Formats: sequence, structure tokens, C-alpha cells
Amino acid sequence: MLIPTYPIPPSRHYQQTVQTLPRLDGRTIAITGCTSGTGQVMAQTCGARGARIVMLNRPSARAEEALAALEEAGIDAVLVPCDLQRFASVRDAAEALAQVCPEGLDVLCNNAGVMGLPDQATADGCDVQMQTNHLSHFLLTSLVWPLLEAAAEARGEARVVNHSSGARRGPRLQAAYLGANGGNLGGDGFPGLGKWRRYQQSKLANLLFTYALHDRMAAARPGRGIKSLCAHPGPTNSGLQAKTANAGGTRLLDQLILWRTLRVAQSVEDGALGILRAGFDPEAQSGAFYGPIGRGKPGPAQLLPPERDPASEQMLWEMSLSTTGVTDFFEHQTVSRKSA
Ligand SMILES: NC(=O)c1ccc[n+]([C@@H]2O[C@H](COP(=O)([O-])OP(=O)(O)OC[C@H]3O[C@@H](n4cnc5c(N)ncnc54)[C@H](OP(=O)(O)O)[C@@H]3O)[C@@H](O)[C@H]2O)c1
Repeated sequence: MLIPTYPIPPSRHYQQTVQTLPRLDGRTIAITGCTSGTGQVMAQTCGARGARIVMLNRPSARAEEALAALEEAGIDAVLVPCDLQRFASVRDAAEALAQVCPEGLDVLCNNAGVMGLPDQATADGCDVQMQTNHLSHFLLTSLVWPLLEAAAEARGEARVVNHSSGARRGPRLQAAYLGANGGNLGGDGFPGLGKWRRYQQSKLANLLFTYALHDRMAAARPGRGIKSLCAHPGPTNSGLQAKTANAGGTRLLDQLILWRTLRVAQSVEDGALGILRAGFDPEAQSGAFYGPIGRGKPGPAQLLPPERDPASEQMLWEMSLSTTGVTDFFEHQTVSRKSA
């Protein structure tokens, strides 16, 4: 494969930052995409600090191996199958979560992501990147809302953490990318910018979803103690780049983007610090955004200035409701369905 390889750099900020995070005994943390990369580091870090880990991974040998690794480390972990390319699988995962989290869910980390994939539709008709990276996370968050509320009521707060990217920077969010228009969103022709525009739109959606959720839950559910936060890892040497290359990322543009990322990339431990701070920093406020400062630069996860765009946030909310079939984001009855 034509993917450039760079030695994984040593972690520079991980140990110091993790020491500032609290113990997590008695907390339940659900993480999408923790077979590798930042999600796996988060699972290991939170598990080592006493949390129970719910691994939301699509079925694979990688998912089984990641579960076994946590169990070998003495971490209380459970694997719930969740394929973010299928809304039906997300719905099944939410049902399973209600069964395995009777004490509620303290943190939902919407971490999983794919990057630079061809212009293909999922079985639900959506862009494969937008459905995996944003739409399914929108649906999942809505479906597990009662579990977040249960944790917030029992233990004072719960959090939703979304994982964006430096690649979010670019044109404003467009409704077409959020609809069932998969396979018809720029194509894969020369010079091959379409896949990167689709990724940009999906990562921008992660950040705007954070803000849209922050505003709407404050209005719909005042005082319930749930925080909506976001992070971006900075360029990180994870499994992501190889997957892009293996999915046909062989054009000059693809190679340039992957090379530029890996040339400056930091370790996955350092890349995970944004979601760790958003998830567990005791000072973190709802609506906060953590990550390295600057576009395409590695560095310690810091509190970043907000990037609000109310019109795009409103459009994202309406389109995401419509495409996922959610009628009222805050009124899914996952928990009560179980006890009914
Ligand atoms: N690495 C970077 O430089 C970088 C930069 C900016 C933002 N990010 C963001 O950081 C997040 C984590 O990425 P990473 O760098 O840690 O990459 P990674 O090592 O490739 O991890 C991505 C995770 O997402 C999972 N995933 C992919 N498709 C899925 C699906 N359909 N259903 C369920 N899980 C799925 C993968 O599971 P499988 O094993 O099943 O594929 C894997 O566990 C992503 O949201 C990414 O966009 C990364």
C-alpha cells in the first residue's frame, strides 16, 4: 500500500494530563469505535481509573480482541455490537445498552469515525462518512438519553462527548450531506477532493451537533445535569490513515493529505486527551471544545474558543431528525420500554 509510514512518536502530554482526571469508580462509560486509536486509549484509561466500559463496536475479530485486552487488564468491560453504518444496528445497540446499564450511563463518547471513503451510500441511503461519523451518533445519543438522565439524577451529571477534527474547517455545513444522498455527493473523480469534502462536512457536523444539543437540552430539559462537549485529537498516528489508504486512497491528493498528517502526528495517547478532558475534567462546562490549538498541529488538549454558527446548527438538527427518523430527540423511551 502506498501509505507513508512514520515512527509513532513518544507520548508527550498523556501522563501529566491523565493525572489531573478523577477516579471513575462507579461510573459507566460507553465508547463507540474502541477497537483501536483514541477510543481504545479512552477505554483503557477510564477502565484503569475504575470505570465500567461499554464498548460499542461493529462485530469483528478486532472488537473481540479489544474486549479481551481490557479483561486481561482486569477492567470491567462489556461489548455491545453497534455498526454505525446501519441505523437498525444502532437501535439494537441502544436496546442492549438499556439492559447492560441499569444504573444509567455517565458518559457517552461518540468517538468512532471513518475518513476519506469513496462516494458510497449505506443501506440507509446516506453518505457512508456522514452516517458513521455523525448521523448514527445523533440517533444513538437520542436513544440513550434516558440512560444519561438516569446517571445525572443518580450521580449529579452525565456527559455526551463528540469527536471532531481539525479537518472540520472549510465550507459551511450543507443540508445535502445530511440527507439520504449517499453516492451522489461529489463523486470520486479527479482530483479526488469529494471524499475529503464529505469528511470535512461530517467532522463539522460533530462540532455543530455539540452546540445544537447544548442549546436544545437546556431549553427542553433545564437543570438535568447533562453536558454536551466536543474534542478534536490533532493529527494522530492511529489506524485511521491506513484504512483510508486501503479504501482506495491512492490518488496524489490522498497521499499528500495522509503524508501531511503522519509527518506531524502525535501518539494515540496524546490524541485521546481531548476526549478524556471533555469526558472527565471536573472543570469542563457544557458546550466546551478541547483539542490542540491550530489547524493540522499536534499538541496538548486545551480549551478552545467556540465556533458557533446558529443557522447551520438549526439546519443540522432538523436534517438529522428527519434522516434518522427521530421525532422528539429527548423523548425516546429506551429505559421505560425495558421496564414496561
Ligand atoms: N487520527 C487522526 O489523525 C484524527 C484526526 C482528526 C480526527 N480524528 C477522529 O478521531 C476519531 C477516532 O479515530 P482514530 O484516529 O482513533 O482512528 P481509528 O484507529 O481508525 O479508530 C476508529 C474507530 O472507529 C470504528 N469504526 C469505524 N467504522 C465503524 C462503524 N461502522 N461502526 C462502528 N465503529 C466503527 C473503528 O472500528 P473498526 O475496527 O470496526 O474499523 C475504530 O474502532 C474519529 O472520529 C476520527 O475522525 C482522528
